[in-house]
Amino acid sequence: MKILILNGPNLSRLDIREQSYYGDLDYPQLKSAIENRAAELKIEVDIKQSDSESELISWLHEAADKKQPVIINPAAFTHYSYAIRDAVAMLTAPVIEVHLSNPLSREEFRHTSVVSGVVNGTIAGFGAESYLLAILAMQKLVG
Ligand code: DQA
Repeated sequence: MKILILNGPNLSRLDIREQSYYGDLDYPQLKSAIENRAAELKIEVDIKQSDSESELISWLHEAADKKQPVIINPAAFTHYSYAIRDAVAMLTAPVIEVHLSNPLSREEFRHTSVVSGVVNGTIAGFGAESYLLAILAMQKLVG
């Protein structure tokens, strides 16, 4: 099993944005933390980031065709991208939504996720640990 881990816009600039929410971990460190935990669990991961809705959708289409499990942090697209939601809905293997922060404790526009209705579950608010918990949950989901 190779889990596709997708990250949406602005997540590549983690360490220089809103540190009260995202801490000082930079994107390469987040990637390494996920890769290390996955290696311990003997799970293969493919971690990608894009600021482009179109690129994220192409990756979701490929995952659907390959029946690949997906962990996705759609970032700001979470709150308004019906195109991302529709692509997630097409996935053929389990999919988990993750967030570093807890969007429900932030501004009101972040309280809506248009993606949550088409995922197996959501893990939010634990920083990098959200991804690590998602990998564990995915391991259970796919057996
Ligand atoms: C985020 C939360 C979103 O509201 C925000 O737009 C992001 C990051 C998170 O991981 O906490 O870019 O998805």
